[in-house]
Amino acid sequence: MTGLRIPDNALLRHKLARLRDRRTDSAGFRRLLAEIGAMLTMEAMADLPEREEAVETPVTATRARMLAAPEPCLVAVLRAGLGLLEGARGILPEAPVGHLGLVRDEHTLVASEYVVRLPRDLAARGALVLDPMLATGGSAVQAVARVKQAGATTIRFACVVAAPEGLHALCAAHPDVPVIAAALDEKLNERGYIVPGLGDAGDRCFGTE
Ligand code: URA
Repeated sequence: MTGLRIPDNALLRHKLARLRDRRTDSAGFRRLLAEIGAMLTMEAMADLPEREEAVETPVTATRARMLAAPEPCLVAVLRAGLGLLEGARGILPEAPVGHLGLVRDEHTLVASEYVVRLPRDLAARGALVLDPMLATGGSAVQAVARVKQAGATTIRFACVVAAPEGLHALCAAHPDVPVIAAALDEKLNERGYIVPGLGDAGDRCFGTE
């Protein structure tokens, strides 16, 4: 299993603490989610393949490393993935963007697709799938499967908070997909919310609580 990567970063932990706080309003929540999206994207891209090229600085000729392939596609799982996407796009401005709409039945917790718009060059670029809450793992497993079906072979998954249950489900279904998260929380409660978590990320992001 490729497993979980949590950046060891005090600023990230600080932003997550403020994101968890119930007193953070929707505008603050959106801003923090975007900032965390940028930081997780940086971490997720840390091991992209590189090549070396000759570069002329204003001072001298040198050699410098750059990405060997075009920027990976970003795939936002709706709705809350849009919050992470905002920050991720700042880091990967040339990345094509896909959207995947999955809705979870509140009783069965099973996800079904209501929108699928994915870039064409997933096979060449690979993808970073964005969804803030890795809860049961149902939507994440389905989202990654859909991105694979569309041609991506190199996939990374970024979330803000992972529950052990969701992490286990995603790693079991897609052992080739590394998970980049800001935190691994304790558990899911009986309503499928991550504990301690941060509540409903979509509702807090879009002010629909
Ligand atoms: N989705 C959320 O937005 N929050 C959770 O705690 C679990 C799933």
